[in-house]
Amino acid sequence: MKKIIIILALVVFTQNTFSQKNYTPSQENINARNWFKNAKFGLFIHWGVYSVLGDGEWVMNNQNISIEEYEKLPSFFNPIDFNADEWVKMAKDAGMQYITITSRHHDGFSMYDSKVSDYTIVKKTPYKKDILKQLSVACKKEGIKLFIYYSLLDWHDDNYFPRGRTGNKIPGRKQGEWNKYIAFMKAQLTELLTNYGEVAGIWFDGDWDQREGGVHSPLTVDWHYDEIYSLIHKLQPQCLVGNNRHLSPLKGEDFQMFERDLPGETKTGFGTKSSELSSLPKEVCGTINGNWGFNLKDRKHKTTKQLIHYLVKAAGYGSNLLLNVGPMPNGKIQPNHVKSLAKVGEWLRKNGETIYHTTQGIIPSNDAMVSTQKGKKVYLHILDTKKELHFIKGFKEDIRSMTFFTTGKKVVYTITKYGLFIEVPKEQQNDIDTIIEIRLK
Ligand code: GLC
Repeated sequence: MKKIIIILALVVFTQNTFSQKNYTPSQENINARNWFKNAKFGLFIHWGVYSVLGDGEWVMNNQNISIEEYEKLPSFFNPIDFNADEWVKMAKDAGMQYITITSRHHDGFSMYDSKVSDYTIVKKTPYKKDILKQLSVACKKEGIKLFIYYSLLDWHDDNYFPRGRTGNKIPGRKQGEWNKYIAFMKAQLTELLTNYGEVAGIWFDGDWDQREGGVHSPLTVDWHYDEIYSLIHKLQPQCLVGNNRHLSPLKGEDFQMFERDLPGETKTGFGTKSSELSSLPKEVCGTINGNWGFNLKDRKHKTTKQLIHYLVKAAGYGSNLLLNVGPMPNGKIQPNHVKSLAKVGEWLRKNGETIYHTTQGIIPSNDAMVSTQKGKKVYLHILDTKKELHFIKGFKEDIRSMTFFTTGKKVVYTITKYGLFIEVPKEQQNDIDTIIEIRLK
């Protein structure tokens, strides 16, 4: 009973600071949203001292490594082969328009030169250099925008108290003060938005840690989103705020993200229900293999075809794809991932017109085909490439012309009262994606 009263009190109390009240995005922010909607493809990077253990970014929680034990990790994190220019070039060649990198993940270790923490790459590793700084410089040089991932949840900081649903078996955690933790996050965000030039967005994660019964249950703490989001928009009005809460966005958030699921899908268990979809720009995030952080034994590397389908499907749902790699502890990205990304880039150089600057197309997307659109041009991506006849139920639009995107050859089609039949003869089939350009009247 007592617990329920405390929760209710917190819920009532948190309403005030629950979102950025009266938020109206600035013109810079609206421009940034439009840029983002058109960008379609970004690189997600999960990198931290956990990469040394080669067991993903949740290793501290999953193996219940004590605070004292985990604190040894930074002393042998020395990524001497890290080259920011190489990463940025790789992303650019893959056709990516932006990079989102973890500045501090759930393990609480800051991968940048934070003055308000002693637990940083500069202070605690033999490497001593600020990788975020290097990356921000390289991005600027290449015209790639930089987004910063920031974990709300922290398994290391005692002030992250009350603790959340995860990390509770990690030995050595003490009880600190929540308000100090909020002040610490604000100080770190101020550093991130002051010392690294223009930051295209802040990508929050971990809100769900403080929802006792799962993502859809009420919060049991006050994240002070009002102050946090206002601070971000005050320091950099164009900076897009996103929060991986799996719920419909709050005031003060500028884009909506979907973890491993296409918008409206709930296949993974993180799924954002279709009732939670908003009209904000969308971003699907997913992994190039099975993990976010480097995992040595992860063999679930996606094929080039799977990666292209992921990107095409995201676009068909009106969303960007933020595709993740987990660099190794030496600072290199796994060579097979570098290769796959190069192949996606090759594909995009030929077919990018059907992806960038498009919106969700009028032909509903499913596993076999998706559509993207630019004004009166609809790009139909046939992903189920083995069939010679395709049917689009209920299609009623007036068609001006229909051609195969790659060869320019005319497509044979029939419109009936039931819908549209399209013929795709073997010689026009592409085993990754057969693209058809439909011009509407
Ligand atoms: C999850 C995980 C986290 C990862 C994130 C990326 O929320 O907690 O490890 O960073 O998803 O979407």
